[in-house]
Amino acid sequence: MKELAQIASAVQVSSTMAIDALAKQMKADGIDVIGFGAGEPDFNTPDHIKAAADRAIAENVTRYTPASGTVALKEAVCKRMREDCGLDYKPSQVVISSGAKHCVYIALRALVNPGDEVILPAPFWVSYLEMVRMVGGVPVVVTAQESAGFKMTAEQLAAAITPKTKALILNNPCNPTGMVYSKEELEAIARVCVERDIYIISDEIYYGLVYDGREFASVASFGADVKERTILINGVSKSYAMTGWRIGYLLSSEKIAKVMANYLSNSTGSPSSISQAASVAALNGSQHCVKEMRQSFEERRNYIVGRVNAMEGVSCIKPEGAFYIMMNVEKQLGRTICGETINSSDDFAAALLRHGLVAAVPGTGFGAPNFVRWSYAVSMDSIKKGMDRLEEFLKG
Ligand SMILES: Cc1ncc(COP(=O)(O)O)c(C=O)c1O
Repeated sequence: MKELAQIASAVQVSSTMAIDALAKQMKADGIDVIGFGAGEPDFNTPDHIKAAADRAIAENVTRYTPASGTVALKEAVCKRMREDCGLDYKPSQVVISSGAKHCVYIALRALVNPGDEVILPAPFWVSYLEMVRMVGGVPVVVTAQESAGFKMTAEQLAAAITPKTKALILNNPCNPTGMVYSKEELEAIARVCVERDIYIISDEIYYGLVYDGREFASVASFGADVKERTILINGVSKSYAMTGWRIGYLLSSEKIAKVMANYLSNSTGSPSSISQAASVAALNGSQHCVKEMRQSFEERRNYIVGRVNAMEGVSCIKPEGAFYIMMNVEKQLGRTICGETINSSDDFAAALLRHGLVAAVPGTGFGAPNFVRWSYAVSMDSIKKGMDRLEEFLKG
């Protein structure tokens, strides 16, 4: 038979999903594994959101909607963005799709021609790299060091831009590092994008999860010249514990929104009508649930950061957002733990899973080879147990 498509065949499985699947399989086999791999809240979707979905089913809101989403949901997105981020968008500038992950792909589809370069600050969310390649783009990785708080500077960005650069993918707050840019740092980055004429794809899916009373600044808030070249990505998955509902949204200029809507109308068609109705309730309803979940995440962050930094030979910086920590395992390289030689963070994570019965994700897929990512979107009990197991495991 003839060969499969080259681009599709080169796509790698998401390393976060791979480790999560392995941990779930071990659990299904009766092994007591604690999973720190998945990027999804352990909370249930709040009741008032589920009730809205029930109502939608009962009222037969079960048909196709416009491909780019319902007017009600677009209006709810505009309202939430205005109240939470001070951003003014019209419904005609909003495109609803089946999750923020899909939004990133659609944004890249709208901007990137084969051979265009897309700048990716590392550590990055695993899927960005693959998606840039999936649209025929060339990822250009700019490494943000742990010593710089995992933040790419405006100078680093400027140095990476070439005549072929089309866009920058920003992820703020960041998965996997939990880093949050300050207003000043972000504005300096945005100015470079305007001066050098590149687009910004800004994935702000974790904007509702920022700690220590910090205020979140969206990159689109730095003036019309930044906003017109920005495709903002957001969604309900993380803030409202709605990962399975598959609703994300894109906000952009009307021109870009139209291109993205056309693309959707010929690929996925509309997202689930029921999930859209539930998302309207999430965005328009009381935001108290977001606050409660944020407080729980903050407590967990404080605990896990304290425990990791109290252990010999591993460390992490204190992240300001999202629900991840990046544990530095550099000092573990070259060691033998439980009879296994540790030469990389992949070896470390594999040995930790086998002998410590704890699943955390090696940093290789995130462009951070000496780190292991822990998601603290798991119960406090599990975090405590997992940290005890890590402590034992490190003793070798
Ligand atoms: C940075 C980032 N963007 C997007 C997503 C996916 O969000 P959604 O569930 O809306 O597709 C994730 C999920 O892990 C993420 O970490």
